[in-house]
Amino acid sequence: MAALDHLGELERTHSCGALRAADAGQTVVLMGWVAVRRDFGPLTFVDLRDRDGITQIVFDAEDAPEAHARAKEVRGEYVIAVRGEVVLRDQSARNLKIGTGEVEVQARELLILNEARTPPFQLDAPPDKLAAEEVRLKYRYLDLRRPFFQNVLRLRARTVGEIHRYMDEQGFTEIETPILIKSTPEGARDYVVPSRLYAGRFYALPQSPQIFKQICMIAGLDKYYQIARCFRDEDLRADRQPEFTQLDVEFSFATREQVYRLIEGLLARVFRLVGAELETPFPRLSYAEAMRRFGSDKPDLRFGMELQDLRPAVEGTAFAPFASALEAGGEVKGLVARGGAHLSRKQLDELQEVVKRYGAGALAWVKLGDEVSSSLLKALGEESVTRLAAQAGAEKGDAVLVVAGRASVVAAALGALRNEVARREKLIKPNTFAPLWVTEFPMFEFHEEDGRYYPMHHPFTSMVDEDIPAFGRAVEGGETHLLSGIRAKAYDAVVNGIEVAGGSIRIHRRDVQRLVFKALGLTEEKARERFGFFLDALEYGTPPHGGIAAGIERTLMALTGIDNIRDLMAFPKTASAADLMIDAPGAIDPHQLEELHINIGVE
Ligand code: AMO
Repeated sequence: MAALDHLGELERTHSCGALRAADAGQTVVLMGWVAVRRDFGPLTFVDLRDRDGITQIVFDAEDAPEAHARAKEVRGEYVIAVRGEVVLRDQSARNLKIGTGEVEVQARELLILNEARTPPFQLDAPPDKLAAEEVRLKYRYLDLRRPFFQNVLRLRARTVGEIHRYMDEQGFTEIETPILIKSTPEGARDYVVPSRLYAGRFYALPQSPQIFKQICMIAGLDKYYQIARCFRDEDLRADRQPEFTQLDVEFSFATREQVYRLIEGLLARVFRLVGAELETPFPRLSYAEAMRRFGSDKPDLRFGMELQDLRPAVEGTAFAPFASALEAGGEVKGLVARGGAHLSRKQLDELQEVVKRYGAGALAWVKLGDEVSSSLLKALGEESVTRLAAQAGAEKGDAVLVVAGRASVVAAALGALRNEVARREKLIKPNTFAPLWVTEFPMFEFHEEDGRYYPMHHPFTSMVDEDIPAFGRAVEGGETHLLSGIRAKAYDAVVNGIEVAGGSIRIHRRDVQRLVFKALGLTEEKARERFGFFLDALEYGTPPHGGIAAGIERTLMALTGIDNIRDLMAFPKTASAADLMIDAPGAIDPHQLEELHINIGVE
């Protein structure tokens, strides 16, 4: 064990990323972690790292024998302080890959401030050789030392800072809303907190500040925003965390156009932080059009490859999968992989796995190589296959990938396939950004499992004016099926296939809100129980209002191209909602359970 030195009153003069050739001759004090130590007899080199970068330190036995001897004691991740002189490196020893690569610090004095155990993984491993994520999450404090995270977390902070400045300039007031509340529905399960003082009662953590921000409008606060933490107990994916942060916005007398302008301005500002120019206004696609052309409500517009309706080419076919799909009111659609004639059987099988994951029965294909080959050749014959390829717009050298089935399955399968083909065929140019608005989402979606309608956004979203009569007929005239066609004043901002923000113009009338609850099968009694306070508030002069929330992590995903949401926050949870570092969720002691009136049925 090394004897440790005291920092005392010694102060850093520079960070480890600061020194340049012009600093040569200065005496400096640097502090940080030992990234690497290399011994060459009378010379010992240490790469000293802090959040800013790495500086090479030289310990010369002749020059500073004491420091040189001491340097032999340091190991990786030891914390040290060095006083020394900045010198220019020999021409041949310059490292132009790092900012400080023209200089080194000739150490005169070394303080060992703390030692470190050997880390369980290599911190400077290349990106493709990183240790397993579980290990890195357990030792998150070590992983966070990597320049990658240092940069990401600083960019995150700068992004949030820029958001505050922008929202302030736009006249918005930041208002904090509580975390211990009652359920605010956003379609996920709530995280709940048991109450000690009220036996058998629970607080719910907010899935979003939705109801509170609407109450702020009723309270005349007019322009609200908040950097808000949200909690959702839902199935996690690469772009979801149980706890995440939103820029949450609401304002009074809002129109959709005002929301679009506000958020376009905001995203343009934030993307400028990385030197990206977003062209405004963003293009717009209605939900229906996005689904029809791209099979997705968050289409990646960095490449084309639109879905093609192949019905005209296969209408009347005896081929059972196509015929039965069309008869049942479904679709036969496909997409053209340009230059895809080279796809091997194995690759096509892999692509088939993608569509199967989305419920498609199979992936049919046509390849226009030197000759036409196709999984459909036997069933359809060469003429029909050629007609189908022509209908899809394929040319020599291309492949057509085809899915048949229910419209929702075809869209989901081809939407996912489109992204996969683009990824595999490298159709996406780096550093390009394709933002858009997806508008006019359906107001309701029908869930087969329980035969009920659910809100597609949330139950406070208003419908487009033209659909009000149909909505009235659906709820009051019993024509329930009409609910599927009602469009909402809801919108998502999508960048590069990532849903960055979502919002809507709200219902501000008590009578309309009542009808929407009714359409959702919520009895008057149930509605009162859950949202009574809100329904009451609506009766005291609620201005028309609307808003949006942008995911901070999602925005950063679009900004950086980093596709794992866990890489964009300091302390994320795993895909099964665990924090491996602190080992949460954890048990609590019986006394605490008793206080909370909880019997978990385990002795
Ligand atoms: P919504 O549920 O669409 O709307 O969420 C808004 C944005 O928040 C981000 N987001 C998430 N990010 C990470 N992990 C998650 N689990 C997660 N869920 C959502 C996305 C999404 O676009 N109250 C409404 C907003 C409104 O109507 O104004 C709401 O929360 O970027």
